[in-house]
Amino acid sequence: MSIDAVIGGQWGDEGKGKIVDLLSRNSNIVARFQGGANAGHTVYHNDKKLVLHQIPSGILRQDCFCILGNGMVVDPVGLVEEMDMIRNHGLTPENTVRIALNAHIVTPVHKAIDRTSEEASNNRIGTTCRGIGPTYVDKYNRIGVRALDLLDEANLKQKVNERLETAIEKCEVNSKDVEQIQTDIDAFFLAANQVKGLVSDTFALIHEHAESNKNILIEGAQGTLLDADHGTYPYVTSSSPSSGGITTGVGLPLNKVDRIFGIMKAYVTRVGKGPFPTELFDADGEKLAKLGHEFGATTGRPRRCGWFDGVLAHYSARVNGLTDIALTKLDILDAFSEIKVCTEYQIDGKTTTSMSEVMHRLDKITPIYKTFKGWESTTTGIETFDELPIEAQTYISFLEDISKTRISIISTGPGRHQILQR
Ligand code: GDP
Ligand code: IMO
Ligand code: MG
Repeated sequence: MSIDAVIGGQWGDEGKGKIVDLLSRNSNIVARFQGGANAGHTVYHNDKKLVLHQIPSGILRQDCFCILGNGMVVDPVGLVEEMDMIRNHGLTPENTVRIALNAHIVTPVHKAIDRTSEEASNNRIGTTCRGIGPTYVDKYNRIGVRALDLLDEANLKQKVNERLETAIEKCEVNSKDVEQIQTDIDAFFLAANQVKGLVSDTFALIHEHAESNKNILIEGAQGTLLDADHGTYPYVTSSSPSSGGITTGVGLPLNKVDRIFGIMKAYVTRVGKGPFPTELFDADGEKLAKLGHEFGATTGRPRRCGWFDGVLAHYSARVNGLTDIALTKLDILDAFSEIKVCTEYQIDGKTTTSMSEVMHRLDKITPIYKTFKGWESTTTGIETFDELPIEAQTYISFLEDISKTRISIISTGPGRHQILQR
């Protein structure tokens, strides 16, 4: 009888998939509220790894509705592939996956526009090229294709073909790519036909479950610092991954949400371009990347790595109204004799603990660190907080103090059971 949310607390890839898998044990619904196939959420089913891009991580739980909310941008082609992948794991996604009527649809034209603009600008943002930005642009420009359009094939074909013509006219795509886009559009229509049966009134489904005191979990994608309003603009995604996006993205007012879990790695990573105050360019950074296997789950790109940023964590707690933090990948720090945490930013000879004040000048700040003694022993699989090495307890308590938020979940390995709750 609770409605909880899982939010990326940093720059994405914090381990949201794993925490959603844990918290969805008794969920009747898991709903995503923003983003699309730019996400890559890793979960394990019978010890086999699955990377989910659009389908909520509640898919491993039987009889749990998995909603692709209206705030998402849904790619039917990717969705068909993802459902096939899930079926290969012995699951039946067609029974529980539902797409909101007013979710927006990513077409091959949007993906081509994303690729074209990234190529033309020499990867200015470093997007995932999944068509996310261009689809949200069309949404707010009021020319988007919505999930309910999948139900009227003739109208859908007309809309998509017209959108391609506009893209050609406005040079949003390269003329050399047009033939390929047309081929992709044919495949898109086939996929659209395969997923249209999943389109339904998810707003009513969510509210009926809420009113009958069922358990609902909201799954965020990306992370707070990638939020178009609250992140490191323009190096952000085109949606609202922070908790504010829940209200518009699934139509569930925030005063209905009981707990908001911010997922944070015990250090920080970032994929793509943009400022990153605690980024490391030394042996420690390489060690974090190597031990943490820090390669993007969607694009395979190497993730940039750095020490935990306490200024960021406090900002994230404030923006999202975090009631809890789930700290992941603590085990990666097992091998460090010294661990640092950024406590303040220095800029223009002054220090600040307010990220919003310097958000537009983050590339100019110098992080001030506090150094902790490492524990240099394995934490993987430890089941209670008290059994953690005392140095790890000290480190975690400091992160709670600096973020002003309780750390109630600690993950010590990728596996489903390598986790402790307090
Ligand atoms: P998400 O996008 O937030 O769901 O995170 P990703 O799946 O993109 O990346 C997180 C990666 O860390 C995945 O490979 C997970 O299997 C892995 N992972 C999650 N928690 C832990 C942990 O506590 N320790 C270790 N070693 N790996 C973890
Ligand atoms: P999950 O849900 C990490 C980053 C991209 C790029 C920027 C904009 O797995 O945490 P976009 O394709 O969204 O227009 O790219 O956002 N990005 C992510 N980084 N994790 C993600 O998702 C991301 N989704 C997008 O690398 O910098
Ligand atoms: Mg990811």
